[in-house]
Amino acid sequence: MDDLRNGILKLKKEKKALILAHNYQLPEVQDIADFVGDSLGLSMMASRTEAEVIVFCGVFFMAETAKILSPRKVVLIPEKEAGCPMADMITAPQLKDLKNLHPQATVLCYVNTPAAVKAECDYCCTSANAAKVVQEGLKDVSEIIFVPDQHLAGYVSSQTGREFITWPGYCPVHADIRKEEILVLKKYHPRAEVLVHPECRDEVIALADRVLSTEGMCRYVKDSPSLEFIIGTEIGILYRLRKENPAKSFYPVGGAVCVNMKKINLEKVLWSLESMEYQVELPDSIMEKARRSIERMLRFV
Ligand code: 13P
Ligand code: SF4
Repeated sequence: MDDLRNGILKLKKEKKALILAHNYQLPEVQDIADFVGDSLGLSMMASRTEAEVIVFCGVFFMAETAKILSPRKVVLIPEKEAGCPMADMITAPQLKDLKNLHPQATVLCYVNTPAAVKAECDYCCTSANAAKVVQEGLKDVSEIIFVPDQHLAGYVSSQTGREFITWPGYCPVHADIRKEEILVLKKYHPRAEVLVHPECRDEVIALADRVLSTEGMCRYVKDSPSLEFIIGTEIGILYRLRKENPAKSFYPVGGAVCVNMKKINLEKVLWSLESMEYQVELPDSIMEKARRSIERMLRFV
């Protein structure tokens, strides 16, 4: 492990690379990263960095977003099969058909979408700022298409009082988090606060004390006086929560694992820096159109 880590650090310096990792990445990958965060934080880092190369340890749509924000940089993803099944639940032709059915609607898309879908939308958002984008950015529009996550759309609708034209997309990992499991954990840990991700089902969200993005959970736990937390999201986040809050206890709901987030390991990060593979490449026409909606997303932080 030390050899791998040292190899990565040496190459990182030589190639002037920045390693970004999502909160669901393996612990050893989080430990080698320059920055660990949620989709919003990672997009912000990608847009601001001076580094020449970005090694993105996350899923493909996240690396694409980094490339769109930093088109002149080399953006590497150490495993190109690390996709997000929810992001792939809507395609650009499907979104175009939906737009044709609602020609007056403004299109908001969750950042968990392919670049070609982002190119068809007006605004992008993450789980951290979706409600803010709707309340502030879209306050004067009367009709909103919000794709692809039906659960995030439902939650944001309950927070903002706005109706959306939705799409039946969902995250298979979060949709598998069950309210029954939370009820059992609450029975055993009655003092624990329940934190869940807005990609969860309505009945799970109904049991939550707080509904937060992954970074929102990290921030909230640090500031909360509570000592126990039931965590309704992918288990990768527990590493950071436990590391940053050693005196607090965390109980994951079931075994929510995103296999795609676990496809990247230290061997692949090293290989990626050695070979400068896999480089994220996108047509300029797609990047230009998609950048508009992503830049609008970054105004609501
Ligand atoms: P965050 O933006 O909250 O990190 O969520 C990303 C994601 O893919 C959740 O499943
Ligand atoms: Fe996609 Fe769900 Fe994995 Fe997040 S947890 S990357 S939404 S499949």
